[in-house]
Parts: sequence; structure tokens; C-alpha cells
Amino acid sequence: MPVTVHGARPKAWEQQVKSYVRKRYAHLAEAHAFPEGGAERARGAGYPARFIDGLPERVSASYCGCGYLLDGVDLKGVRTTVELGCGAGLDARLVCERLDAGARLIAVDFASQMLHRAREACEGLGDGARPHLLAGDMENLPLADGVADVVLANASFNLTVDKKKALAEAHRILRPGGRLVARELIREGELPAEIARDPQAWNASLGGVCEETEWESLLAGAGFCDIDISGHAPFRPVVSVRVHARRGV
Ligand SMILES: C[S@@+](CC[C@H](N)C(=O)[O-])C[C@H]1O[C@@H](n2cnc3c(N)ncnc32)[C@H](O)[C@@H]1O
Repeated sequence: MPVTVHGARPKAWEQQVKSYVRKRYAHLAEAHAFPEGGAERARGAGYPARFIDGLPERVSASYCGCGYLLDGVDLKGVRTTVELGCGAGLDARLVCERLDAGARLIAVDFASQMLHRAREACEGLGDGARPHLLAGDMENLPLADGVADVVLANASFNLTVDKKKALAEAHRILRPGGRLVARELIREGELPAEIARDPQAWNASLGGVCEETEWESLLAGAGFCDIDISGHAPFRPVVSVRVHARRGV
């Protein structure tokens, strides 16, 4: 089955792809086998140099995002933030450093090995300032309706096999008026044939990449408003974008 077709797919296929993705990220985390150059990519994406340089190399090297998630994002007055697909926890740490006293971050990933890395990344933060790490699937979140003021995601929606479900879940856990802030991958036209035919493309974050218009209609379909997709930056062979949207009141 071609990996870039976004129509109806058999459930068994979806389960298989999801299981491959989870196993791949579990392995990357367990073996500390993250793609090379994580810290440089984070610096290049605009993460504050002081933040990256202040992290143990093992932590900064585990960055797997596709852009600077918090660029221009104000977390003042935010009580509960939920991060989806937190990976090894660089954004989780940065968020925790910026939250008001008493505010909390719930960082979710379906690979428990990633959550161990995220715990490591957040070592040294004060007791009340560490994230709550939660094992869960973005397509079926173990969180109550309306719990979040802000939902964050960096390079994780593109890995979900059912984006409608994942966005519906993000919308469900946001309070009315709450914000979705994501860095995501989009494709501009078809992917090169050798990638589109590659059964491993989903694992490499590419099989599930949508076009910008698909993203807009998926977001609108999930009930989001004030949708803004901007900050296009090359992320070969695709493009990284900043996605902002709001749950209507
Ligand atoms: C490309 S990595 C990005 C990690 C992190 N956000 C960062 O910027 O370094 C994607 C992460 O999303 C997680 N993930 C993928 N699909 C998921 C799903 N359905 N539910 C929960 N986590 C998922 C993976 O385990 C992985 O840790």
C-alpha cells in the first residue's frame, strides 16, 4: 500500500505502522541512538544558545523536533500545558523553566523509554517544576476533557496514523479558548517516488506528512478556529511549519 495515501486504510495496517513507530522511538531512546546533530539542529532552529549549551550533551543530542516550538509563545498565566509526543524532553524542560510557579506540564509519549529520557532531561528542576510524564497514545489520550490551556507538539502529529483522531483528542483536552501550538512537517506536492514507495517512510517521519491544505482542513474538521500555518523552513525533503490554532469558546 502506498504510504502517502491519506484515504481509509485497514485497521490492521494502522496498528502495524503505529507499532513500528513506537518500537523505533523506544529503540532510539533505549540505545541513545538519536539521529546525529540534534544539538546543532536545535541551535539552527533558533533554540536559545544558553539553553542548549547549558544541557548535558547527552540531553541536547536527543532533540528530534522540526523547529523551535516555543518561538513567540507566551506561557504567562497558563495553568496546564500538555505536550504530545514529548520525546526525550528538551521542549518539556524549556517549558518547565518558563511556566509560572504552580503551573504544570503534562508530557505525553507512547514510548515509555522516551519518558525515561525526558525524566533525565528534566533533572535538576525544582520539585514542583518537573513535568508530569504520562504514557499515552495521542490518538486516545488518557486525559480528561478540557484539562489543558495549551497543547504543544513538536514533530509528532506527522507520525500518527489517524490524524483526525489525534487532532480530535487535542481539541477535546483543550478548554474552550485554549491554544494548540505545534511544529509540524508538510509536503509541497508528492514526495519523491523512492520515499513514497519506502515501507519505512512512516518511521522516518515522512509517510504520514500531509500537504498544508490537508492540515488546514483536518484542523478545521476537528473544530479548531483561528488557524495559522506559518514559518515555513526547509526540512528536506519536506518543509517544517509552525501551526497555531484555537479551540472555539
Ligand atoms: C520526531 S519525535 C519528536 C520528539 C520531541 N517532540 C522532540 O522535539 O524532540 C516524535 C515523538 O512522538 C512520539 N509519538 C509518535 N506517535 C505517537 C502517538 N501516537 N502517541 C504518543 N506519542 C507518539 C514518539 O514516540 C516520539 O517520541
